[in-house]
Amino acid sequence: MTVRLNDTYMKPFVDEKELASIKDEVLDAHKSLLAGNGEGSDFLGWINLPNDYDKEEFERIKKASLKIRKSCDIFIVIGIGGSYLGARAVVEFLKSPMYNNLKKETPDIYFSGCNISAQALNDLLSICEGKDICINVISKSGTTTEPAVAFRVFRELLEKKYGKEGAKERIFVTTDKCKGTLKKFATEEGYETFVVPDNVGGRFSVLTAVGLLPIAVSGIDISALMQGASDAAEFYTKTDDVDKNDALKYVALRNIMYRHGKSTEILVSYEPYATMFNEWWKQLYGESEGKDGKGLFPASVIFSTDLHSLGQFIQDGSRNLFETIVSVKEPDEKYAVPYDEANVDGLNFLAGVDLNEINQKAMKGTILAHIDGGAPNILIELKKRDEYSLGYLLYFFEYACGVSGYVLGVNPFNQPGVEAYKKNMFALLGKPGYEAEKKILEERLK
Ligand code: PA5
Repeated sequence: MTVRLNDTYMKPFVDEKELASIKDEVLDAHKSLLAGNGEGSDFLGWINLPNDYDKEEFERIKKASLKIRKSCDIFIVIGIGGSYLGARAVVEFLKSPMYNNLKKETPDIYFSGCNISAQALNDLLSICEGKDICINVISKSGTTTEPAVAFRVFRELLEKKYGKEGAKERIFVTTDKCKGTLKKFATEEGYETFVVPDNVGGRFSVLTAVGLLPIAVSGIDISALMQGASDAAEFYTKTDDVDKNDALKYVALRNIMYRHGKSTEILVSYEPYATMFNEWWKQLYGESEGKDGKGLFPASVIFSTDLHSLGQFIQDGSRNLFETIVSVKEPDEKYAVPYDEANVDGLNFLAGVDLNEINQKAMKGTILAHIDGGAPNILIELKKRDEYSLGYLLYFFEYACGVSGYVLGVNPFNQPGVEAYKKNMFALLGKPGYEAEKKILEERLK
């Protein structure tokens, strides 16, 4: 199995009757998702995406990625939320969070337009000095403030450096197929464009051009990534038995936890390369489920680092949490602890032992300690750290997310809550049309 859910460490916290009784709800949600008769059914394009994608565009993505790799030292990906996290998660998971410091034949990749920080923008502009640059601006709506500001800045930089015509060859736009400001602008300027499908929401878009172009630029095999997702889709959508379908089992277990008052789910990895994968997962679940006063709060940690900080809380603090661990079964890198003649730290009993073995023991010891402390653990085992397996895992979490939202009784495919801050920000900034709101907000801020 490429992805396997091990529920051994949930057993003390879930009784068989409880599991049996939630199974019907999970199966109903699974069927409703596939039948497209639940809430948000306009946004189910991601379900068949790994098989039913635009093959011509897929080849264009590969071609564009080769062109980008040949023509720049720095590739800047501009986007936020669902138009950012998937690409970064995959690049860092498969290539290392230290990607930009590695010796490689691909450009350094930086992400911009994912905050409103002058410091971050200036830092990146300094890094760009004297370097050849390409950019990929990604925005489904085309109007999101953060990426729009960054796009202004980098477009101007490219036009100054290469002229309007030269810049055109270095600007790649991923946006709606036909509508929106960005699409119109890209067409007018003659930039190469890629599509965010209408029926795929941002947080489910990692396997569209949104994720695939930056991922391909990093040298990752996007065909293998899609193949993994495709095999996962085949399995998880067609296996109607919660005991055999781990995506459905995950839905059952996490909803039981929620009903027990364990309303925080912590995604755990023992590898720093999963840091941005955790961020992707948090957006996927947080934005999909956190609404109507409901939802599990998705948090994340990297162990053993965070065992020296949040580990205290998880072991011993409020008992409103459980953990979901993603563990890679066959690690690709090894490193043996060196022997030290003086043995000043008393660690010679570990000399020659691979760090993976120590990491595994840390994981097993922590699981037992945490379940003893009352924090249930779901263990998700990933066969390998490669494109195929990661594609499988991405789909596992996406599919479970759709089903879980329906079990929870929310529409997992909208995000009405993200508009509130935007409205206030625009009003406070004096955007035309927001005059009345501005007055009210300024009064409240006095
Ligand atoms: O998941 C989502 O829908 C959001 O996170 C969006 O992706 C994010 O707000 C960016 O939107 P856009 O792609 O329209 O710029």
